[in-house]
This record gives sequence, C-alpha cells and structure tokens, in this order.
Amino acid sequence: MKGAIFTALAEMVEQEFGLETWDFMLQDSNSDGIYISTDTYEDQEFINLTLSLHKKTNIPMADINRAFGEYAFPILAASVPELTSDDITLKEFLLNVDRVIHVEVRKLHPDASLPKFNYDDDAEDELTMHYSSSRKLCMFSEGLISGAAKHFNTDYTLDHSQCMHDGHDSCTLQLKFHGLKNAA
Ligand code: HEM
Repeated sequence: MKGAIFTALAEMVEQEFGLETWDFMLQDSNSDGIYISTDTYEDQEFINLTLSLHKKTNIPMADINRAFGEYAFPILAASVPELTSDDITLKEFLLNVDRVIHVEVRKLHPDASLPKFNYDDDAEDELTMHYSSSRKLCMFSEGLISGAAKHFNTDYTLDHSQCMHDGHDSCTLQLKFHGLKNAA
C-alpha cells in the first residue's frame, strides 16, 4: 500500500487518540514509522497497524476501517479536484471510481494495490457496487463512500448484503440515494 495511506492513518490516530497510541501501534507492529507518500509498503504492515489500534482501543476492526475511510476521503479527493467538482452527482462520482480514478492512480503508480468494482446501475436513485480485492477492505470502502456522500451533500442508505468476510468472492454494496445533489 502507498505511504500516503499510512501517513493518513498516522494523522487520524494522532488526532483522535493521541501520539501515545500511534507510538504503541508502531511498537506493537514492529514498524519504524517512516512512511514516504509515494513509496509502497506491504499490505500486511497496514493490517498489523490497524490490528494494534484494535488491541489498544477495543474498537472493532470493521469500525476502525470505516472510520479511516471517512477520514481518508477528503485527503484522496484533494489529489483529484477535477474529479470531485460540483458538476457531477455522488452516483456519477462513484461510477468514476473504478472507470476513471483508480485507472489514473494505476497509471501514476503501477504498483498500487487497488480493488475492483463492478457496478449494477438499474435505477436512477440506486447503484450496486460489487467490491473485490485480496485485501478485503470493504469497510474502508464503506467509509470512503460515506466521506464522498458528505462531500456531495447527499443522503443515502447502504446495504452490505454480501461480504467477502463471510467467504464470498466479492462484497455487494447496495446504495439508494435520497435526492441526488451536486456538491455544495
Ligand atoms: C468513494 C470513493 C472511493 C472508493 C470506494 C475507493 C476504494 C478504495 C479501496 C477499498 C482501497 C483499498 C485497496 C483495496 O481494497 O484493495 C483504495 C485504495 C486507494 N485508492 Fe480508492 N476509493 C475511492 C476514492 C478514491 C479517490 C478519490 C482517490 C484519489 C486519487 C483514490 C485513490 C486510491 C489510492 C491512491 C489507493 C491506495 C493504493 C495503494 O495503496 O497502493 N481512491 N480505494
């Protein structure tokens, strides 16, 4: 995973739990804590850090990953301002994640660890996202979607009706939008 993800995690932990918790996580997961945004680190190192946060705080892993997704969204979005502008809807943005955004990320960083999203787009106010990735970070996805919904100022409901953590090949995230609006 990219160093940028680790620096965002460090920022969130320091802000929400304090430096002492970040230091505990580094020690517990045998990390030196040196992360350069554009460098790539083992996926396992990220998983170990979040496991250490779970150990220290007792917060369930799913909640940690979701909260981190929400926290990380504005940071990731700032790197692609032209793709998070106010002339598209939340739904159009989410369709762009696999078709445009992650494609561009892959061009810039061929070694990026990115998930695959397939979409079902059957109704104007609905979107089903099928998530698959060896990293099984579906709850991080849920958090990013929540962060995107705040950015686009749109209410939605999400039904995580099938999950890789229950042995399925992909996760099903069924979204229903309430009054699709553009970003403020
Ligand atoms: C709601 C919107 C988004 C969703 C649901 C999403 C989903 C994800 C997920 C789940 C991962 C973790 C890797 C995995 O699961 O295999 C990831 C990684 C990543 N995404 Fe997205 N993403 C979103 C928006 C963005 C945006 C706006 C950017 C801006 C450039 C971005 C860039 C990245 C990068 C750089 C990584 C890390 C790649 C690495 O560590 O090697 N994503 N994304």
